[in-house]
Amino acid sequence: MRGIYRDYYPNGHDIVKTDDGLNVNVFTDFCKKLSMYSTVKNSSLSQHHIDLFKTIIGDAYVLEDTETRLHYGHDETEALSFPPEVVLKPRTAAEISEILKICNAAQIPVTPRGAGTGLSGGALPHLGGVLISTERMNSILQIDEDNLQVITEPGVITEVLQDAVKAKGLFYPPDPASRGSCFIGGNIAENSGGPKALKYGVVKDYVLNLEIVLPDGNIIWTGANVLKNVTGYSLTQLIIGSEGTLAIVTKIVLKLIPLPKYDLLMLAPFSSLEKAGEAVSGIFRAGFTPSALELVEIDALRIVSKMAGGSPIPITDHTEAHLIIEVDGNHLETLMTEMESISEVLTRYDCGEIYFADDEQQKAALWKVRRQVAEAVKLEGYTIEEDTVVPRAALPALIRGVKALGEKYQFHAVCYGHAGDGNLHIRIKKEGTENSLTEPVMIEGLYALFELVKDLGGTISAEHGIGLVQKVYMDIVMNETHIQLMRGIKKVFDPNNILNAGKIFD
Ligand code: LAC
Ligand code: ZN
Repeated sequence: MRGIYRDYYPNGHDIVKTDDGLNVNVFTDFCKKLSMYSTVKNSSLSQHHIDLFKTIIGDAYVLEDTETRLHYGHDETEALSFPPEVVLKPRTAAEISEILKICNAAQIPVTPRGAGTGLSGGALPHLGGVLISTERMNSILQIDEDNLQVITEPGVITEVLQDAVKAKGLFYPPDPASRGSCFIGGNIAENSGGPKALKYGVVKDYVLNLEIVLPDGNIIWTGANVLKNVTGYSLTQLIIGSEGTLAIVTKIVLKLIPLPKYDLLMLAPFSSLEKAGEAVSGIFRAGFTPSALELVEIDALRIVSKMAGGSPIPITDHTEAHLIIEVDGNHLETLMTEMESISEVLTRYDCGEIYFADDEQQKAALWKVRRQVAEAVKLEGYTIEEDTVVPRAALPALIRGVKALGEKYQFHAVCYGHAGDGNLHIRIKKEGTENSLTEPVMIEGLYALFELVKDLGGTISAEHGIGLVQKVYMDIVMNETHIQLMRGIKKVFDPNNILNAGKIFD
């Protein structure tokens, strides 16, 4: 017996994993329960609480109608729906504080939500109760050009923030694929990355200070608006990536850097997916650090092309994958030499004819294809976007392993993502299965995938978080002591377990 995974839904069943795989009968029961549970309301929320919320934020921002509840009951994670009982749209930290005081006293579940673009179910109100949307907290409060910092509210769209600082010659690099719609607050919750993370780092590398509301309603700043800080434990870093389980972030201070003047982009086709993976390490070993190094398997490209009615990237018979490689900096000639040297490296890995994007329009077209992959493959019936990450040089072994598991479990896997970081997104399609959360055969395949990732020295999420749908796999990469420590931290912040309970771990 390898372990027993407690059901995280009330009155549900255990998920039992034996040496031979999951106990499917027990699991099927669990699945039925789960689909039923989305309609259950069992929190202690009453009309009295709704009236109090209306006094705090105004009637117009307390929403109970079915359409709104359904809208806020899903995110971008598969076809899951868990409508909250009420949706609240506060404008200030003080309002959130008052709401949390009420919910904490009455032990009402609270789910914080950004733009709902999450891919691990972190913003799904699976216990009903109150959903707090940060969408009205959408002001950029200050761009400090002397100190290269920006102070923002959490409901600002990431790309809007990036454009606002860009207008002043400044750069906020983390750029998740959903940057045109996701909120910066959600990026803090998930410690998002994106293509530029390769050279510039992820969200945690830019956050200096956070204003947070604790589950009991207290408001604190976690740090200071400074570049170095070792004044006690870093609560700032603890909040980043905590998926809304410890506190609600209401103000964010980010470090900025000067905007690089130029970037160049190229596209390299490979006749073998594995060779493309090998070329990734080769580029770094040759001494280059691109500002982005993305991989797109040919099937992903075919699916985007189908959705978009065409593709700027030629789809040829003998191509299995493309690498999209970007370099950036302040000296155009240096960048051009760098691009040439990188292309020489690529030829050692059976690379086909390299295409250089000539102008901004061509670059934008290539990036658009890359950013559309997740949406396109989801529409095509591929389930959850897995977010595996391994040490960069293990990427070819991961790719090989994914394909072998596909044959064993009879699913089709499509791979794409941030190859330079060893961060491979994998979407799986298996005829006759609807999602990866409630289908035992998918769960079994995913267990095998994550065991492989662990054996290769990696882990199960790089930038999407664990949320609701990945938590049953946590014990593959963490032992009980590790998980207990995290539970202890949760208890200190949220002794009544009201805030995004049942996310990351039970
Ligand atoms: C991507 C996102 C969705 O890289 O993580 O496509
Ligand atoms: Zn990604």
